[in-house]
Amino acid sequence: MTEVNRRTILKMIAVTTAAGAAVRQAEGRQAVAADGVFQHGVASGDPDRSSVVLWTRLTTEQADTPVQWQLAADADFASIVTEGETTTSAERDFTVKVVAEGLEPGATYHYRFLVGDETSPAGRTKTLPEGPLDRLGIAVASCSNYPLGHFTAYDAMAQDDEIDFVFHTGDYIYEYSTEGWGDPIATELGRQSLPDKEIVTLEDYRQRHAQYKSDPGLQAMHGAHCFIACWDDHEVTNNPWTGGAGNHQPDTEGDWETRREAGLRAYFEWMPIRDPAPGQALGDYWRTYRFGDLATMVTLETRHSGRDEQPRYPADGELNSPEDRGRYVTEILGDPNRRMLAPEMEADLREAIVSSVEASEPWRLIGTASPMVRFHIPDITSLGIAESELPDGLKYLAFNGQWNLPWYNDTWDGYPAAREAFYALCREAGAEDLLVLTGDTHQFWASALADAEGRPMGVELGTAGISSPSEYVDYGLEPEVGQRLDAIYMEHMPEVHWTEGFHNGYVKVVLTPEEAVATVVGVSTVLSADYETLDLFRERIVKSGPSLTYAPL
Ligand SMILES: [Fe+2]
Repeated sequence: MTEVNRRTILKMIAVTTAAGAAVRQAEGRQAVAADGVFQHGVASGDPDRSSVVLWTRLTTEQADTPVQWQLAADADFASIVTEGETTTSAERDFTVKVVAEGLEPGATYHYRFLVGDETSPAGRTKTLPEGPLDRLGIAVASCSNYPLGHFTAYDAMAQDDEIDFVFHTGDYIYEYSTEGWGDPIATELGRQSLPDKEIVTLEDYRQRHAQYKSDPGLQAMHGAHCFIACWDDHEVTNNPWTGGAGNHQPDTEGDWETRREAGLRAYFEWMPIRDPAPGQALGDYWRTYRFGDLATMVTLETRHSGRDEQPRYPADGELNSPEDRGRYVTEILGDPNRRMLAPEMEADLREAIVSSVEASEPWRLIGTASPMVRFHIPDITSLGIAESELPDGLKYLAFNGQWNLPWYNDTWDGYPAAREAFYALCREAGAEDLLVLTGDTHQFWASALADAEGRPMGVELGTAGISSPSEYVDYGLEPEVGQRLDAIYMEHMPEVHWTEGFHNGYVKVVLTPEEAVATVVGVSTVLSADYETLDLFRERIVKSGPSLTYAPL
């Protein structure tokens, strides 16, 4: 596509949304400090019932400086609950991380940092609830791409009072140069990547995190909500697995393990999450969160602890008959030995599900960077999409549709045997009612999951990017054609209940013991810091036998 097209389409979406109903105007955006010690804001996350991680960074005061921190029951800091002093240094890029302990479960707190006579912005945070819980709001974020747009969706999250915790599915940063993925929008917005090259070294990754943490929408989101996260690929580089990555060239970018270590180390420095235990591998990053008696959530690590290499795509001329297709699907995609998860994580997952089922909790949530739903493309050309209507970058959809192949091979679609093993593990542990929260595709999805034998396994909500454009937008697909494609996907992808491929935004799920209400919140634009929001989808998720299904509100 031409780049003009991309901008035109983004602007068309803005106009469409402005005319829609249920719009909310942005207001109260947090001001970002342009100078002083605390230019990267504050953040909190990785909570349990009695503690939470508090984070900031010293932007200018870069010596071994004492840093005071305070956590209070009130926004005026009149009632300090706990406080302390810590230090930071160049060794951890002057990031500051403390674990505030001895807290009450399910309580809201306010926190801040002090250096000399400077005080950081105050943040608000929350511990995990204990005992009876009748309501929980989780927002799902994914794919926040600094050069490709303002983080308006983060800003909208900051103002959303229904949210108790924000879950980020990964691609919190991207590794590319501005030229690699960003221009001309990045230059138009003054959001060129720093450093302006593909990031490889520890210093590169630190500088990139610092740039992302300078965004006012991102700072507002972190200041307003307690953060739960898993990473996806771009926190290091595109499409990694345990032995390498699609976007890592050892000849010019050096040793893979060194680069991965650099990316993950910078991530732990810059994110409000607990550091690995001594001796624990950086890649072993998965968690179990218990929300009172209402829900248990397991976040998966699907990149650096257990994943085998992605299967190859069909070679030119390899698929000429149904038999060829059968061979590719069985022998290449269907390789039973290709793993996604580390055995240690599977053991923790099993334990979390068993204890959730034994406690009769209504909800079991899986947070994952990689979607589980089957995205096998239907034969779109026989369903009314002419190949000539597809821009060059999307012509592969006609080919994949012709052979009913997965959209791409990096999701669980490239690991069907591992997906079946995952479902079998969950079923044996007592759960066929998974509520999976994911992102990655830059498009919104509401899906109903099933195993290979068609047995329902729950539902999956996939969020679009905070600012990463969808393929439709990125390649300049006419909006009217995109709407027809979405309609075809809804009708002909067996597991897909609803999808939308143009807006950025986030997904929100509000759980009660009886039902969950899922809302897809779109933002009108990422080309300006001023935006409106609209609800693109709102349905209930309810029990259906041993599994889950969608129901109208
Ligand atoms: Fe992404």
